[in-house]
Amino acid sequence: AYTAKIGPSILSSDLSQLGRECERMMECGADYLHLDVMDGHFVPNITFGHPMVECLRKAVGPNPFFDMHMMVSRPEQWVKPMAAAGANQYTFHLEATTNPGNLIKEIRESGMKFCKVADKCPKSKANRSSYTRVGLAIKPGTTVEELAPWARQIDMALVMTVEPGFGGQRFMEDMMPKVNWLRSQFPSLDIEVDGGVGPDTIHRCAEAGANMIVSGSAVVSSSDPRSVIALLKDVVLE
Ligand code: DX5
Ligand code: ZN
Repeated sequence: AYTAKIGPSILSSDLSQLGRECERMMECGADYLHLDVMDGHFVPNITFGHPMVECLRKAVGPNPFFDMHMMVSRPEQWVKPMAAAGANQYTFHLEATTNPGNLIKEIRESGMKFCKVADKCPKSKANRSSYTRVGLAIKPGTTVEELAPWARQIDMALVMTVEPGFGGQRFMEDMMPKVNWLRSQFPSLDIEVDGGVGPDTIHRCAEAGANMIVSGSAVVSSSDPRSVIALLKDVVLE
């Protein structure tokens, strides 16, 4: 038996209606919202930055959990602006920084508000309202051994299951050993998967031990996102 939270990525939605799309995903049963920030440098695509996040926070109110996936070359630069904009968790890429330890500390001290999602996280019990969650992401070509030294200092490891940059790509099943290994080594760590995850692939992720599941196009491009989210939850709650 496994349980996991479902976080739609709104990257593939109608970007002119982003606030409405976020609300729609929450109404359809999303546990949290995965927000993909791309700078056109770390990845070959551009999405949005903290001004957009600030607007989204105003649009959706205080409760939806904003999981920021920072696909940017200088993750240090956006911690404070994202905190001010209303982010709840800040996930940076290991490949994008030379000093992960310092960045983890900066994020931890940034005062992002912890809310609802990932209530299993043991480190967060103490004081949720003033605890900032830190995520660390690795691209498909980065080994889990490179992430391991930081695992006890973070709340969530993000194992990418596509090359970051675009929605709608094919799920890389050969990333699952990374998830398995992390789960075996760090039982209380939140582990997120991102890229190509939908009704056909989610069981692989859950079996391997992922407990935060991002699903973009499979949910957002569906004519019936509510049913897709329900289906995804069904798989991870059995
Ligand atoms: C890829 C992004 C993902 C992506 C997921 O660079 O980080 O969050 O939008 O979308 P799907 O589920 O369509 O692969
Ligand atoms: Zn993402």
